Amino acid sequence: MKKKKTLRIILFVIFAALLAVFLYTAYGRVGRNDKNSVIKGLREYSSDSNVIIVYFTGGENMPLDKVDAVSSASVFEENGEMTGNVGIAARKLQEITHGDLYSLQTKGMYSANYTYSTYQAMFEQILRHRPVLTDNIPDLSKYDTIILAYPQWWMKAPLAIESFVSQNDLSGKTIMPLSVHFSSGLGGSVEQISKLTDANITNGLAISESSVKSDSVYETLEKWLNQNNITTYTGGETK
Ligand SMILES: Cc1cc2nc3c(=O)[nH]c(=O)nc-3n(C[C@H](O)[C@H](O)[C@H](O)COP(=O)(O)O)c2cc1C
Repeated sequence: MKKKKTLRIILFVIFAALLAVFLYTAYGRVGRNDKNSVIKGLREYSSDSNVIIVYFTGGENMPLDKVDAVSSASVFEENGEMTGNVGIAARKLQEITHGDLYSLQTKGMYSANYTYSTYQAMFEQILRHRPVLTDNIPDLSKYDTIILAYPQWWMKAPLAIESFVSQNDLSGKTIMPLSVHFSSGLGGSVEQISKLTDANITNGLAISESSVKSDSVYETLEKWLNQNNITTYTGGETK
């Protein structure tokens, strides 16, 4: 009898914990505020570019005044703007493609506590809860190619990527997926994206977070871009 009661209590505690995490994931987001000095809106390289780099990074989607030590290890300042590993890669891509740049940002931000943010991301995946994006998505009609850059989150792309791909008509365009990861490469992200669009999806590129800031990453990016017929501009040379 006592055993049954204990089991019931344990089950109740597990259920309550799951419910709390679910409610926090779905409704407990911190609203975006102007304290976050992050890139806002489209950053054009030139008015005639037909390539756009669309990216999502943790570093632009959490309240930056509250980040804990673990999260802050992958938040960086780049020319007065805060960003994360993917943001660094995206800026390098803009530099060498002369494309335009756009940062996907969610209306409700992820927790600045690393552990909570991993739970939020996990529950989003389990519940298929696509986050709402800020409503300044640029006009995509002039672009032929979208370089879509994101971190690995639980072996997939964050669901903000699903929000972007599923809410925009990308047919006739080419999507080049780029994943920044700790160890799991592209994970299941390319299949995940392919299911949501009839755009042409190229081979993806995975770069490890430890290489994002290195100069050697330029060569890796360039090779991938050139293989997919994207012109690159480095050191005054055009390829
Ligand atoms: C919620 C969450 C889940 C993650 N899951 C994975 C994973 O499954 N595989 C992996 O290699 N890295 C994983 N990582 C590590 C990130 O992919 C890596 O730190 C990446 O550089 C983060 O990019 P960002 O700084 O632009 O957000 C995860 C990080 C977070 C926050």
